[in-house]
Amino acid sequence: MSNQDEIKIQVDGQTLPAKAGQMLIEVTDKAGITVPRFCYHKKLSVAANCRMCLVEVEKAPKPLPACATPVMDGMIVHTKSPIAIDAQKSTMEFLLINHPLDCPICDQGGECELQDLAMGYGNDVSRFSEGKRIVPDPDLGALIATDMTRCIHCTRCVRFGEEITGLRELGATGRGEHMKIGTYIQQSIGSELSANIIDLCPVGALTAKPSRYKARPWELRQYPSIASHDSFGSNLYYHVRSNRVIRAVPKNNETINECWLADRDRFSYTALYHPDRLQMPMLKENGVWRETDWDEAIKVAVQLLSNSAKETQTLISAQSTLEELYLAQKLTRALGSHQIEHRLQQIDFRDCTADPKQPWLGMSFDDLENQDVILGIGLNVHKDQPLLGHRLRKATLNGCQLMLINPVDWHLNLSATEKVIIAPSEVLNTLLCIAKNLKISLNGLFAEKIKDCQPLTDQQKAIIKHLETAQKGIILLGETTQAHPDYALIRQLTALISQKTNLKWGIVPEYANSVGAWAAGAVSHRLPSGEIIAGEVQNPLDVKATQSIILVNFDPALDVGSPVEMQAHLAKAESVIALTAFKTPALLAQAHVLLPIAQAPETSGTFINAQADQQSFQGVAKPVGTSRPAWKVFSALGTLLNKKGFEFESSQDVLNELQGQWESPDISASNQLLTQNEIIETQLSSADIELLTDRPIYQSDIFVRHAEPLQKTPDQRGKILQINTAMAESLGIKDKDTVKLIQQDQSIELSVVINDQVANKTVYYASGIDSNELLNCRFGAVQVEKV
Ligand code: SF4
Ligand code: SF4
Ligand code: FES
Repeated sequence: MSNQDEIKIQVDGQTLPAKAGQMLIEVTDKAGITVPRFCYHKKLSVAANCRMCLVEVEKAPKPLPACATPVMDGMIVHTKSPIAIDAQKSTMEFLLINHPLDCPICDQGGECELQDLAMGYGNDVSRFSEGKRIVPDPDLGALIATDMTRCIHCTRCVRFGEEITGLRELGATGRGEHMKIGTYIQQSIGSELSANIIDLCPVGALTAKPSRYKARPWELRQYPSIASHDSFGSNLYYHVRSNRVIRAVPKNNETINECWLADRDRFSYTALYHPDRLQMPMLKENGVWRETDWDEAIKVAVQLLSNSAKETQTLISAQSTLEELYLAQKLTRALGSHQIEHRLQQIDFRDCTADPKQPWLGMSFDDLENQDVILGIGLNVHKDQPLLGHRLRKATLNGCQLMLINPVDWHLNLSATEKVIIAPSEVLNTLLCIAKNLKISLNGLFAEKIKDCQPLTDQQKAIIKHLETAQKGIILLGETTQAHPDYALIRQLTALISQKTNLKWGIVPEYANSVGAWAAGAVSHRLPSGEIIAGEVQNPLDVKATQSIILVNFDPALDVGSPVEMQAHLAKAESVIALTAFKTPALLAQAHVLLPIAQAPETSGTFINAQADQQSFQGVAKPVGTSRPAWKVFSALGTLLNKKGFEFESSQDVLNELQGQWESPDISASNQLLTQNEIIETQLSSADIELLTDRPIYQSDIFVRHAEPLQKTPDQRGKILQINTAMAESLGIKDKDTVKLIQQDQSIELSVVINDQVANKTVYYASGIDSNELLNCRFGAVQVEKV
């Protein structure tokens, strides 16, 4: 800021520094001077339609709205003078003319901006004796309850849709007393950030449906925590009554989630009280399950582990805390095995020797907003990680060229410069063509394959031009790429392209602790210190000699990259001990012992997010039933197995021990290359019909899958096979036909939906839904037969 921009204004007798052109309300807010407001919000454009912020400005003929008045040098402002107060009280009187004031039955009561301001600026008795207007309530779906008679037309919710999510779902119709807020067409709101309008609404017109009428705000205690689903690490508050989570709201953190929260993180707490929650330990005897107490269950688990003649293997979700991941690997290694793995969706482990200590996003969320180019490969921008999608949208609004190489033209609320929509097997070839034209010298398999490169398409040429000319940029590998059968080769080519163009590259980590899992040593080939264990790099399903398997915090049918192979792998094991919060059909079929564990809001721990922020949190609610934190279960198992170093008083002690091995997340060398001369075969060949599966946003983990309100949103895809018109015609099938999807010896019956956003040669299916209907792999050649 140049000195010329620095000005001084006087507010209520105080001299305040300001920037020329800044809005008056920003200056008063910074100085802690209260100016009442309804429509103003720091993250939204100025609407200036409620007039609640009227203040007296000397030399102005009438009171001016502080939110829409730019400051000028020497301006003298009075926010509490008789003129200002009179204007504010008059506005309040107008607002209350039509307001129902049904505070006793309003969910907002006790935390309502209108109620609070009416205390200061409203009259005891209304001068309005005519009938009040009544407004019908639109149905906005399973997450947001509406009472539009309470709406004061501030338009925050409308501006949120237009400016933050990029979806114009809500709008205002009519004028004056007849103005109404509603959906343009009768439908629920589809954005994955939709429920932020609940926080934005200053009154009780929009409230959270799942927690409606469950508690009054003054009965709730507020505890800070960290969201446990995607790798964004959103800060939030859980509101708790009688040891039970009643709702979740965002906690402001400008470098992470700002003031927003994804619907998945806001409503997943409902899963804590799902009927399928495992309340007691369970043992399977002669194929029949019975409940038991912890003493017996732990004794049986210890026996199974100590009797095991061969290696123990632990498969653990990266949704677990750092402390749980650390003790899981410590126990596994204390039992003489290195078979610990958190990468459950990954099927290509061939490049593990080149893995950095902690793969991460490659730059901070803030930096992401200021790139010239971003190339996403296999990246479903909004659904993979909703708030990352929000940051990418901000980047494009700042002028960043976003380019995507995807198997589906997934819906975008932003403008992408280039979109290459291709079958999964074509990704490698596309990158090879880009690498060849960037004049990258390629060895080994790549040198062989490069001969197959076709002449460049216009889109490929445009991508190359943007990559070459960008000063700042990043290539991001999304979740679909990380699950790709040729992930090792895609990663190698990405690294080479990034090296040649001086751009960064990174991965979009899948879970809340995908970065932390590396730091905790929850991989077979690295210790928590990052030290490499020679000869221990392998696909966890290739382990032939496994005798005992410990599963932690995931469903072995729905949360893995090779579901059928995983079932066979578990069936071969002598014993399967599952630490789980939920009873699922696959766990009941495959496990021998079920130990109930607490979920993130019920336990303390630490997550490391995609930009390597290490964030610890405390348990905020009582674990359901007899559930225990998983770190305590590992501590008990280790101690009873007579292993040294498993006695911990608290999760902080576990963290302290882990941090003795590294001081902070080590993300220094994350852009390494594979050994270039290695020739690795491609694992995914081109086929006439290729399968692509992904998990819908609310099927992404065992926890969220049990959150019933989220299951009722339009994001659920169900048993459908999506296919484009050309493919459908070539196969002789139509919309709504029933078809059989066949992959090797597995088949599923599905209903066809014609969707021209799906790449040619590709059929698109949502996995993670029904454990009775599994395919061998999320990718690969398939057949489609009309039933
Ligand atoms: Fe009362 Fe506020 Fe609800 Fe209106 S919106 S009824 S003022 S609590
Ligand atoms: Fe404002 Fe709430 Fe009405 Fe939307 S519904 S315009 S946020 S008062
Ligand atoms: Fe200024 Fe509404 S807050 S007009």
